[in-house]
Amino acid sequence: MKWLVLVVITIGFGLATPISTYNHYRLPTALRPIKYDLHVLTQLENADDFRFGGSVDIRIQVLENSNNITLHSKELTIDETATTLRQIGGEDLKDNCVSSTEVNPEHDFYILRTCRELLAGQVYKLSLRFSSPLSDRLEGYYRSSYVDPVANETRWISITHFEPASARLAFPCFDEPGYKAPFSITLRYHKKFTGLSNMPVKRTGKDDFLPDYVRTEFQESLPMSTYLVAYSVNDFSHKPSTLPNGTLFRTWARPNAIDQCGYAAEFGPKVLNYYEEFFGIKFPLPKVDQIAVPDFNIGAMENWGLVTYRETALLYSSEFSSLKDKQELANVVAHELAHQWFGNLVTMKWWTDLWLKEGVATYLATLCVENIHPEWRSLELESLANLLSIFRKDSLESSHPISRPVGKVSQISESFDAISYDKGSSVLRMMHLFLGEEAFRNGLKSYLNRYAYQNAEQDNLWESLTQAAHKIGSLPKDYDIKTIMDSWTLQTGYPVINVTRDYTSRTANLSQERYLLNSDVSRAHKGCWWVPLSYTSQEEKDFNNTAPKEWMECTETGKSVPKTIQDLPGPGQWVIFNNQLSTPYKVNYDAQNWKLLIETLNSEDYQSIHVVNRAQLIDDVLFFAWTGEQDYEIALQVISYLQRERELLPWKSAFDNLKLVNRIVRQTSSFEFFKSFLKKIITPVYEHLNGINDTFSAIPQQDQVLLKTMVVNWACQYQVGDCVPQALAYYRNWRAEANPDEKNPVPINVRSTVYCTSIKHGSDSDWEFLWTRYKKSNVAAEKRTILTALGCSREVWLLQRYLELIFDAKEGIRKGDSKWAFQAVAKTEVGFLLAKKYFMDNIGPISDYYNQLIKSISRLLEPIEKQIYTRKDYDEFKQFLADSKEFLEGSEEAIQQTLEIILTNVQWRERNYDQLTRAIKLLL
Ligand SMILES: *[C@@H]1O[C@H](CO)[C@@H](O)[C@H](O)[C@H]1NC(C)=O
Ligand SMILES: *[C@@H]1O[C@H](CO)[C@@H](O)[C@H](O)[C@H]1NC(C)=O
Ligand SMILES: *[C@@H]1O[C@H](CO)[C@@H](O)[C@H](O)[C@H]1NC(C)=O
Ligand SMILES: *[C@@H]1O[C@H](CO)[C@@H](O)[C@H](O)[C@H]1NC(C)=O
Ligand SMILES: *[C@@H]1O[C@H](CO)[C@@H](O)[C@H](O)[C@H]1NC(C)=O
Ligand SMILES: *[C@@H]1O[C@H](CO)[C@@H](O)[C@H](O)[C@H]1NC(C)=O
Ligand SMILES: *[C@@H]1O[C@H](CO)[C@@H](O)[C@H](O)[C@H]1NC(C)=O
Ligand SMILES: [Zn+2]
Repeated sequence: MKWLVLVVITIGFGLATPISTYNHYRLPTALRPIKYDLHVLTQLENADDFRFGGSVDIRIQVLENSNNITLHSKELTIDETATTLRQIGGEDLKDNCVSSTEVNPEHDFYILRTCRELLAGQVYKLSLRFSSPLSDRLEGYYRSSYVDPVANETRWISITHFEPASARLAFPCFDEPGYKAPFSITLRYHKKFTGLSNMPVKRTGKDDFLPDYVRTEFQESLPMSTYLVAYSVNDFSHKPSTLPNGTLFRTWARPNAIDQCGYAAEFGPKVLNYYEEFFGIKFPLPKVDQIAVPDFNIGAMENWGLVTYRETALLYSSEFSSLKDKQELANVVAHELAHQWFGNLVTMKWWTDLWLKEGVATYLATLCVENIHPEWRSLELESLANLLSIFRKDSLESSHPISRPVGKVSQISESFDAISYDKGSSVLRMMHLFLGEEAFRNGLKSYLNRYAYQNAEQDNLWESLTQAAHKIGSLPKDYDIKTIMDSWTLQTGYPVINVTRDYTSRTANLSQERYLLNSDVSRAHKGCWWVPLSYTSQEEKDFNNTAPKEWMECTETGKSVPKTIQDLPGPGQWVIFNNQLSTPYKVNYDAQNWKLLIETLNSEDYQSIHVVNRAQLIDDVLFFAWTGEQDYEIALQVISYLQRERELLPWKSAFDNLKLVNRIVRQTSSFEFFKSFLKKIITPVYEHLNGINDTFSAIPQQDQVLLKTMVVNWACQYQVGDCVPQALAYYRNWRAEANPDEKNPVPINVRSTVYCTSIKHGSDSDWEFLWTRYKKSNVAAEKRTILTALGCSREVWLLQRYLELIFDAKEGIRKGDSKWAFQAVAKTEVGFLLAKKYFMDNIGPISDYYNQLIKSISRLLEPIEKQIYTRKDYDEFKQFLADSKEFLEGSEEAIQQTLEIILTNVQWRERNYDQLTRAIKLLL
């Protein structure tokens, strides 16, 4: 193989070239790429030397005269003897060349000084030749593998993951989303493989130079950003979709998983049709390939025409995947395909507006899944889940606005968080509900049409929506979307509104302030939000109407305008604000209104309050009790009604909150009372659902399946009813099977609980049995369930061994899955202290293991931060993080949030713990 080059310059560290003086994190704006020709040769046959190399020709348009070409290149070896620069087209054609090069390692710049000045208005062609090892780092152009079970051999494949800034690891390019250009891609690889890229194959044939190699040229793409470029060399199988008249659609997986592609192959084209209709814009490419990659760091990536997924997000097995797994899969596919318009067709100008594509895709996915699978009733659940997520994350002082300036790559990476996704989605839903269907859709459509193949920023979307809304009159003429939405996207946090009623004048005064979990921080002067106000009363009960009756407004200087609501009912009746939680804010009421609500909730009539608002009341009151602005007595009276509750959403809301209290209280002497209280509220619904018994086929409503899964999980933790003995019995039956990898008598939807309970109460050999199943399983969803259950052991030595093998690449847990295993250990009462110690003792090796892969370390902090609650431990962990800075680079924001969460635990312990204990004892 011809990998040897005579003169090489390694772009990276430890080299002799001068360091550039241009030190801004953005590229200079003098040049613009207008076309890429990319050739990549991939070498996957020699396991000792996985490599790729190739050349890129970039046509560059000059906007301002310049004496250099600055682009991105990271860890690529560039053969500078092969670099050429030519002027093309234009009059008095002159040859040009490169006189010297520099690098800026901080911003990954590769700077070529030109022999003659590049002239504005002219077009040049720059050719570069490069090569690099094909690493296993899960970004850039990397390798992944699977074991062929028949031959018992490892098979290697290659795949790209470029977002946000890793195209530069694969080829030199202008690696910013604003530089869109068409790509012509050619792949060269051994003939036993298939090559895939964004576009369909144009022609393929024998390679001119290498025996047994083929050369596949793909059609030229539409103009697109570098982070959306994708290609893969693999020996996967594929399943074509069969929806008539649709775009060519194929689903790819390793051959022994092809039977798990059926659902995605059927679902994907339906999603595409849905969006085509929703936006009124045909999918612009001739084909979509979706591919399940065994080693993948995140959920999925929306590369235009070649969408990549981790296996759990694309593969479905009716025997091994639960309903929850299936819904998650549907959600991810719907999300990625929404990006084909929002993100790929119209792209944000810069990562500041990342949320524009992530928030929109998250929201549209909920609408799409609801449309294709109405029987799941997933829209309300997903909307609530997104709201609950941001109510928590965005109540931290260390949170950030949805739209914010970002510079360095690590800051860009940190923006892929709940704020961009879940808050973005929640404010879009808010807009959808206050603007109404027609204005919302028309606004999105005109935005897409106007900026197709270009870049845009949030103000462009606001303008399209304002015009659409004014046109049909669904927004007052003196309101504009930008004023309203800036208060949601440019400010951190969300408001709590105090509703104080005057029962004789039948009015209520409303005031707002930022809701903060951290009680050491003053809430005063922390912003003002434009809030569409919907509300209803005990006599009206019109929860369906989410259109605002009034607005809470802000002055130009950002102060809240006092608001009084008239014509409310008399003293015997409650009011509830924020119908169906259409806007992300919390509501606190005066004592009398809470009393009225508690009466209704604890009566036969509790369903007269909309199910989403029941979930809202639970979440609000538990937050207020946590921060000390409501008594736990009131809060527990509210949640006591759960003994009657048979719907999923209120339970989800309650468990999400109680989980956090549980993680602290279970380490204290009062756990006994907390446990009795939970047993008391869970028992009725557990019995109602026939406990853990396999009655799933008799459940007509799909969301009740999810409820049962959730309730059973809690019931076994708290040893409610027959949960533990029945779980153990299922596991025993499974172990008694002659072929447990083929035949599993445990009902799919309670497997995670059965496995965890059995590992927790079981023996070493129960653990070994499950670990063997992990190694033999061919289904990613089942593997994830098992990884998580293995952390439930209470044997210190087993947990310690598990922790060690999680970060050992040879042991069979893939790097992209390792966080699940660690979280599983860290979130249990026995595992927590071990995991924390392991993390603190091994931060160096763990950091090396992840090699700055985005989000990895912060995922490990998540379970730890929830369980530290004393000031001493807080101080110790804070010191540890400060001492470990060098290993935590790129997680600065996550660390601040971790520390703030621990601090709020400490505050809770000091302020509320005794009060909670007293309040619980009153109810037992
Ligand atoms: C390259 O050219 C651009 C545009 O003229 C200029 O802004 C930048 O400073 C130059 N870079 C270097 C390293 O000289
Ligand atoms: C597969 O190969 C590995 C190592 O090459 C070996 O240890 C293992 O026993 C083999 N498994 C089977 C089922 O043959
Ligand atoms: C598919 O396209 C053909 C020709 O354009 C048309 O006659 C047929 O009705 C279409 N079928 C469906 C299901 O849309
Ligand atoms: C509501 O606000 C008005 C005007 O500021 C005030 O006069 C009234 O007392 C307030 N009512 C309540 C119940 O706080
Ligand atoms: C809302 O009520 C809480 C608790 O009574 C109080 O601490 C807070 O100051 C009030 N906020 C506003 C803006 O009135
Ligand atoms: C509210 O909407 C739901 C679903 O569309 C409908 O079933 C219900 O009857 C409506 N309720 C009222 C009071 O209009
Ligand atoms: C589960 O089934 C067993 C055996 O049929 C029965 O005894 C038990 O009561 C059931 N448990 C629940 C909670 O329904
Ligand atoms: Zn996305």
